[in-house]
Parts: sequence; structure tokens; C-alpha cells
Amino acid sequence: MSLRYLTAGETHGPQLTAIIEGLPSHLQLDFEALNLELARRQKGYGRGRRMQIEKDTAQIAGGVRHGYTTGAPVALIVENNDWKHWQKIMNIEPMEGTDEEKRRVHRPRPGHADLNGGLKYNHKDLRNVLERSSARETAIRVAVGAVAKQLLEHFGIRIAGHVIRIGEIEAPPHNLPLSELARVTEASSVRVADSETEKKMEAYIDKIKEEGDSIGGVVECIVEGVPVGLGSHVQYDRKLDGRIAQAVMSINAFKGVEIGIGFEAGTIPGSQVHDEIVYTKERGYHRATNRLGGFEGGMTNGMPLVVRGVMKPIPTLYKPLQSVDIDRKEIFAAQVERSDACAVPAASVVLEHVVAWEVAKAFLEKFGGDSMQEIERNVQGYLAQLEEY
Ligand SMILES: Cc1cc2nc3c(=O)[nH]c(=O)nc-3n(C[C@H](O)[C@H](O)[C@H](O)COP(=O)(O)O)c2cc1C
Repeated sequence: MSLRYLTAGETHGPQLTAIIEGLPSHLQLDFEALNLELARRQKGYGRGRRMQIEKDTAQIAGGVRHGYTTGAPVALIVENNDWKHWQKIMNIEPMEGTDEEKRRVHRPRPGHADLNGGLKYNHKDLRNVLERSSARETAIRVAVGAVAKQLLEHFGIRIAGHVIRIGEIEAPPHNLPLSELARVTEASSVRVADSETEKKMEAYIDKIKEEGDSIGGVVECIVEGVPVGLGSHVQYDRKLDGRIAQAVMSINAFKGVEIGIGFEAGTIPGSQVHDEIVYTKERGYHRATNRLGGFEGGMTNGMPLVVRGVMKPIPTLYKPLQSVDIDRKEIFAAQVERSDACAVPAASVVLEHVVAWEVAKAFLEKFGGDSMQEIERNVQGYLAQLEEY
């Protein structure tokens, strides 16, 4: 069974829900670690008031018994604590009332899904679009990814994300081992490895916020301990780098993906791009460098995976851009919904979890089994084969 999931729920609805199918039995779940990931997504300099209202926790409503998966679909729920204030506005039953009472949206925000969704689904209340297109949905994607992360950790695969750039402020390159990178960036308000850069980024975000504007940036995630051979060269939709790129682009506001040196690969000669092959008895085959970010031929090559994504500035601006009122077809300022000025630190947490999911999916495709014990045997067999190769 291929690993898959679906999510449902609105930003101001009662809850976000996910069903994960295809997890093996006997995976021990650490509920505290799962909730810690949700808390990590809520942190970050530049986030608005909602993050103080919501203290996300995940409930498990199926597929887990006495702390272990049973092999049945796992149902996850993240409640929206703000729901009590929105019950009437988001009422599932028919409701009489004024536009104001319904908090109807009719001045679409440039850069958001409002107008396209309104035209496509024939909604005159754009709230029917924005409620689902909101990045609140990334909370449940983090919960799903946190389960994937725990599966990967069991097999020694670790993952860490951090911020590379916010607007015009770029972090200097670092040489930290993965665990140290995770520790240092966890303590940073903007998830950056360098404290000088942190201060500059905070000041920059303050300035942007004061101007009623928003700002994006670049985030990176590194995955270590991935065996060679996840994904495949034989079919377009089995190339794991391609699948990761799709998943990253599906994160709200992400506008580009790079693997390894990414776009720089088109600017320098091949001798400076390709990673030379080395063999030692201790490490087997590996690469002298990792400029291609752990992928060749759509397959992992045993080196750490390095994935970057660029997030555009948040579309909701307190000093709104020009838009058109869909009732009057006249120019008006776009509607303002409560919003963050910068969500790049949170986006780095989302990136980690989205990438973890794709790696876990490819891992189960390679070593598939119905129980953790069966997968462990398959992994051992493969590692023995690699040693003999
Ligand atoms: C972590 C995170 C938080 C976000 N917060 C907001 C927000 O507060 N206000 C907003 O307008 N957009 C926010 N966005 C971006 C929008 O959800 C996104 O731009 C929108 O869904 C349109 O999709 P697109 O930008 O991918 O085309 C956020 C994105 C992420 C990843």
C-alpha cells in the first residue's frame, strides 16, 4: 500500500483533520514530540496574534492503540481554538444575516486564492475560498509530517530546517553538524544559525511591519542518513527529487525549489557541479562533495538531501494593494484579514515536514512491509546487499 494522506478543514472551522493510510503496524508514536513540532510551526518573529490564541495540539482518533500504530488508517485532528469566536460566521447550517455578520469577503487580495477560487467555484463570498486556502492547513500537514519524521528517525534518518534569507538579509554559510544546526536554529527567533543575522532579520521584519508590508525569504532543509536508492530513474513520477519539488511547491506561498546548488548549476561548468565518486571500506561508495544535494537520476545517492524553497511575501497587507470589489466592479483596496508580516521561520518548519513525508513515502515504497518488523528485515537485507556490492 502506498503511503498517502488527505486533509480537510477550514482556517476558522472547528478543526483540521487528516487521514494517513499505508503506515505499517508497530510504529511507536511519541505524542509529545508530535505536539512539539506543532508548537515549532507557531513560533517565529513576525507572526501575528493568532499564534498566541492557538496552542496547537494533535489528537489521534484512529489507527493507534497503546502508543503503537495498528496498520489501520491513522486519523489526526488539530482543533482550532479560535472556533468559539467563529461558530456563527462559519455555521454549517444555513444562516440568515448581513454581510457583516457573515464576515463576507468581496474585495479579493492580490496574491491570494480569493479571486481565482471565487470565479472557479462561483462563490460571491470569497470567504468560502480563503478559509481553505489559508496556510492554517499547514498545521495539519506538519502533524502528518511529524508522524513521517518519527518513522524515519526509527531508521536513523534525521531532518533539520533553517532560514537562509529574509528579504534582503542573507545568513552566512555555516559548517554545523545537523544536530548542532537544529539546536542553534531552534533557539533563534528567526530560525537562523547566526546571531548577528538574527538581529538584522528582526530589525528588518519590524521595519516591514511598520510599513504595513510583508516579506518572504528562502528556507532550507537537510536530511541525513538516507540510504542510496530511494526513488527511481525508470519513470517520471518515481523520481524522488521531482516528487519533493512538487510537494515543496504545494506549500502556501512557495514559488521555487532548489536541490543542492540548484539554479547555480546553470551558471558554472560541469567540473564544478558534479560530485566525484569515492570508495572507502568504512563508508562504501560516496561523493567527495555534495553539490547536487543527494540526488542523481531521481534517486538518492546516500549523501545528505539538501532542499531549498523560496517563499513569497504574505499576500495580506495591512496597507492593502489595489483590488476590485466583485459587487460593484469598481476599484477598492483589498480586504484585510488578520495576518502575519513574515512567516518564513514557520515555513522552514513546514518545509521539514513536507520533505519528511516524501522521503518516508519513498522509504516505504523501497522497503515496504505491513509491520515495522518486516520493514526492518527488508532494510537489513538491502544494507547487506550494498555491503557485498
Ligand atoms: C506558514 C505560512 C503562513 C502564512 N500566513 C499567511 C497570512 O497570515 N496571511 C496571508 O495572506 N498569507 C499567508 N500565507 C500565504 C498564503 O497562504 C498563500 O499565499 C495563499 O494560500 C496563496 O497561495 P500561493 O501563494 O501559493 O499562490 C502563509 C504561508 C505560510 C507557509
